[in-house]
Amino acid sequence: MNKLLIATNNKGKVKELQDLLKDTGIELVTPADINLNLEVEENGTTYDENAAKKAIAFAHASGLVSLADDSGLEVDALDGAPGLYSARYHPKSGANDADRRAYMIENLKGKPRPWTAHFHATIAVAEPEKDAQIVEGNCYGEIIPEERGTGGFGYDPIFLFPDLNQTMAELSMEEKNRLSHRALAVMNAIPVLQKIFQP
Ligand code: IMP
Repeated sequence: MNKLLIATNNKGKVKELQDLLKDTGIELVTPADINLNLEVEENGTTYDENAAKKAIAFAHASGLVSLADDSGLEVDALDGAPGLYSARYHPKSGANDADRRAYMIENLKGKPRPWTAHFHATIAVAEPEKDAQIVEGNCYGEIIPEERGTGGFGYDPIFLFPDLNQTMAELSMEEKNRLSHRALAVMNAIPVLQKIFQP
């Protein structure tokens, strides 16, 4: 049981988590690596609930320690929306990330700027047939009305770090992985993993 399963099917998250965990010495595997095809319905009412549900389901299905992330973008002028529903924030089914960014900007038009916002990530780590351990991270910035940059995924091209005058999508993966909500959550998850994987 010395492998850690990155319990997500989101390619953007997989890449970031692999990079964030590469120096832990823990062997990382993805669902694709072990031919595991599992979709977990995210029907919880909190990030913690969804992250725990995913980590526990993947650990149960694989027999491996599993790490899941549930994350979202909370925009103050939208009363914290889309938050938990960030992946599905669009009235039409089949919408993609670009549609969701355009829809967010549409909903913000006419509201006074800056459109302050933060990303939240909850990470759950579950050992097979055990409860999940939960940690989290947040990162703060603002939404801008035009897209900038091509890196990252999701809402990255419209999420600006005002102090850097760069969007999340203009940062290299290395830079994003120093500042992001997911990076901070992983930092908090590492002691949990070290305890589980200690020789
Ligand atoms: P979930 O955790 O699978 O519910 O999905 C979280 C959603 O929040 C993603 O599909 C993105 O829309 C958004 N999101 C989470 N983290 C990031 C990020 O690092 N950059 C941009 N968007 C993100």
